[in-house]
Amino acid sequence: MHSRLVVMEDSKDFGSVVRINQMRYYPTMRILQFFLMFIVLGLGVSIISMNTFRYFGVRSAAPVVPSVSIVQPRLEEPSGNGIDSWIKTPSDLLHSMSDQELLWRASFVPQVKEYPFKRVSKIAFMFLTKGPLPMAPLWQRFFKGHEGLYSIYVHTAPSYVADFPPSSVFYRRQIPSQVAEWGEMNMCDAERRLLANALLDISNEWFILLSESCVPLHSFPTVYHYIARSRYSFVDSFDEQGPYGRGRYNRKMAPEINITDWRKGYQWFEVNRELAVKIVKDKTYYPLFKEFCRPACYVDEHYFQTMLSIESPNLLANRSLTFVDWSRGGAHPATFGKYDITEEFFKKLFESKRCLYNDQPSSLCFLFARKFAPSALDRLLEVAQKVMGF
Ligand SMILES: *[C@@H]1O[C@H](CO)[C@@H](O)[C@H](O)[C@H]1NC(C)=O
Ligand SMILES: *[C@@H]1O[C@H](CO)[C@@H](O)[C@H](O)[C@H]1NC(C)=O
Repeated sequence: MHSRLVVMEDSKDFGSVVRINQMRYYPTMRILQFFLMFIVLGLGVSIISMNTFRYFGVRSAAPVVPSVSIVQPRLEEPSGNGIDSWIKTPSDLLHSMSDQELLWRASFVPQVKEYPFKRVSKIAFMFLTKGPLPMAPLWQRFFKGHEGLYSIYVHTAPSYVADFPPSSVFYRRQIPSQVAEWGEMNMCDAERRLLANALLDISNEWFILLSESCVPLHSFPTVYHYIARSRYSFVDSFDEQGPYGRGRYNRKMAPEINITDWRKGYQWFEVNRELAVKIVKDKTYYPLFKEFCRPACYVDEHYFQTMLSIESPNLLANRSLTFVDWSRGGAHPATFGKYDITEEFFKKLFESKRCLYNDQPSSLCFLFARKFAPSALDRLLEVAQKVMGF
């Protein structure tokens, strides 16, 4: 459409060139009048055809181009050059940036630390999934009434097409995704991609990684205040002796990573904006993990845990906010179904651990839990009000 319009403007110029030339060679009034009429007529025709093109061009392109949904919100965006264009919440998560371009863009950090506008800090809930979100109705209820304090990002298998209705909090929250496999570097790539997309919204201050089998354990205000008032980010990170801990360290990673720096931990993290930027901008540790941490070194259990412990040990709580039950043994944690969901189950879960919160003993240690089977949803919806408070 653009190039066509340019061509038309060119032909208008061409018209005035013709006029000047004609005046020079045939200076009689009649001929001048004739050409003036000719030009007016020509202009008229070109204006009509331009509008016709605009009208029919858009009309006929609409059904063919599947990305019409991308075009629409752009028209609604504020067009001014004010601060809004830098701080507004991106209205559309689809972009055509490569990972390299995205990570670069996401690593921008303002050097002036006071915001010249009222910034309400949001929590970015980042769902790392294969596709469907069976717990969506529970999350929907969890988020209800707290608009403006959260944003949602969903990474799926690249082929998955989400079909959430416009009324859903998950509607159009899918980010451009790629294949992610457990234990492989592409899993960490997906997590960095989620962080980078979420960093594009300047109001996102905290970033939580969740899976499709995760559920919230407390109401939104409880979760928000717990995270907002914490001195630390909740990254599970510990030094484990033996084959499954230090045994996975490769000494070729030195001197950037020594064996005493090697950490292990559960994948499901919560980080603040400062740590999120550290993760997306990392060029020091990434190549080492990519080359030297391959199964049976499971990179999602070591990369961010080790890297952040070296870079920002004082910002880490060294524990996860997500409960998981390994007590049944085996390589995978327990999955809870319909018959597990009782008030007793939650009572036990809430009392299962004591921890430190801002260096003080606390019994509120977990804000989320996994893994829950789709069959558990109805029971969860039934007990949510009573045991979780939403
Ligand atoms: C690893 O050890 C070397 C030699 O002692 C030291 O120079 C380097 O700073 C250490 N690396 C880290 C991340 O502490
Ligand atoms: C977490 O572990 C690091 C060492 O990796 C330590 O420096 C830091 O103090 C620990 N954080 C807390 C809250 O204890």
